[in-house]
Amino acid sequence: MSVSSEDQFKNIVSHCKEYGFIYPSSEIYDGLSAAYDYGPYGVELKNNIKNYWWQAMVRMHDNIVGIDAAIFMHPKTWKASGHVDAFNDPLIDNKDSKKRYRADVMIEEFVEKIEAKISKEVDKAAKRFGETFDEAMYRQTNPRVVEYQTQIDSINQRLATCMTNGDMDGLTTLIEELEIADPVSGSRNWTEVRQFNLMFSTQLGNIAGEEGKLYLRPETAQGIFVNFLNVQKTARQKVPFGIAQIGKAFRNEIVARQFIFRMREFEQMEMQFFVRPGTEMEFYNYWKEERMKWHLALGTPAEKLKFKDHDNLAHYANAAVDIQFDFPFGFRELEGIHSRTDFDLKSHQELSGRKLQYFDPELNENYIPYVVETSIGCDRMFLAMMSHALVEETVPDAEGQDSTRTVLKLPAALAPIKCAILPLVKNKEELTDKATAVLHRLKAHFPCQYDEKDAIGRRYRRQDAIGTPYCVTVDFQTLEDDTVTLRDRDTLEQQRLHIDEILPIVKERTDMAGLFG
Ligand code: GAP
Repeated sequence: MSVSSEDQFKNIVSHCKEYGFIYPSSEIYDGLSAAYDYGPYGVELKNNIKNYWWQAMVRMHDNIVGIDAAIFMHPKTWKASGHVDAFNDPLIDNKDSKKRYRADVMIEEFVEKIEAKISKEVDKAAKRFGETFDEAMYRQTNPRVVEYQTQIDSINQRLATCMTNGDMDGLTTLIEELEIADPVSGSRNWTEVRQFNLMFSTQLGNIAGEEGKLYLRPETAQGIFVNFLNVQKTARQKVPFGIAQIGKAFRNEIVARQFIFRMREFEQMEMQFFVRPGTEMEFYNYWKEERMKWHLALGTPAEKLKFKDHDNLAHYANAAVDIQFDFPFGFRELEGIHSRTDFDLKSHQELSGRKLQYFDPELNENYIPYVVETSIGCDRMFLAMMSHALVEETVPDAEGQDSTRTVLKLPAALAPIKCAILPLVKNKEELTDKATAVLHRLKAHFPCQYDEKDAIGRRYRRQDAIGTPYCVTVDFQTLEDDTVTLRDRDTLEQQRLHIDEILPIVKERTDMAGLFG
């Protein structure tokens, strides 16, 4: 991470705290690692993200319906899904520092360091050769770069093989050979790598022992699979159709850092699309494109998003790709699109003894549908929006002098507050009464905020910092002709409009429907 990206990340975390978006969980007790609470503006933004997803998936598709399943499920669910046996991360402890790490992540970070060395060589060469520089040729022919690349390929290959085969000894050997040291203490005194199951468990009140062991769901998807036939029949759906769900998931992450990027309690927005066997790749490609369009419709620049095929497929998938976002700490997974085959339904059918088949009237046959899944973390989406939207810029102040402002350029449809109503001064009752009347007219239609404290410039800055796209100022002219100024957060343009025009204009410009073209 370059210094400026590190600073940007720190700014996001402190901005979220200072402006009521996100607080550390139970902060008065010094917080709980990897758990966070959403504050007044955070919950609005998060709800808007969920709403945008729900509308795009459920409302805009006639063949997708929603559910809200329980977090607790019958323990056999997790046996059938493979999570009891295979939802593991490779864990390693440093005997000196007593710190715990994910072995695969340490190896990936080692590879990233070699990649950084290559980038350095390439940058140096680009400066040296100027316009004639052919980067692809340089990467293929420069002996040092070729050597680095060969090393990267070999490490990646060994890592992928170990991960696919669950070869923990192989990972231990790799870490030893690469002489990877503890990033905190520099010590190379490691334990063996071992598997660590990521599910949190708890106990039913009325049953003792293993029988009563319950898990907090590590993904929302299984609530959809077990309800597949209930939903198909009651919502009278025909394959292909989808079931969508938004809800909490829990994972006992070994390394949980980077703020809300990797949490132990988080929220997922998942959709399982049930298709005829053999057609799954067609729908996999369809959903890849659809989901990318969903991100781009928010105005996120295309260069901040990219597809990354999975090197290691999960135990249930025959194809998988991530949509990665350029977070301040680099490109990382934001969403996954997985072709899950008939793995889940088949396993649930076997373990429950209940048929989970669909009768296809067109083919006149029964089959277990294949599933294409789209799965995005709501908190990660929140962080992506914050990373892109939070900017510092120089703008002219009221006197036309340069001044710096911090502004959250969120898409208007996602902004927590759509419109702030500001009387020019607070000690003139006619003005505050008029402004309050405007507030009452607007607040049933979208979230508004009334603010009369401090100079108008400071109030604008406060609204900029929480991403409010429009500010309405009620001044002395308003008392004469019922006109107000409407200030645009991004262009800073101020338009004089009649009070009656505010509602339709702000409503139209902040409405989520605008994101659907
Ligand atoms: N049902 C498939 C599934 O759960 P996943 O790739 O493990 O797939 C899907 O998770 C998404 O959930 C990820 O792309 C990410 O956005 C989010 N996610 C996963 N683990 C997370 C964590 N510990 N904290 C926050 N978000 C997480």
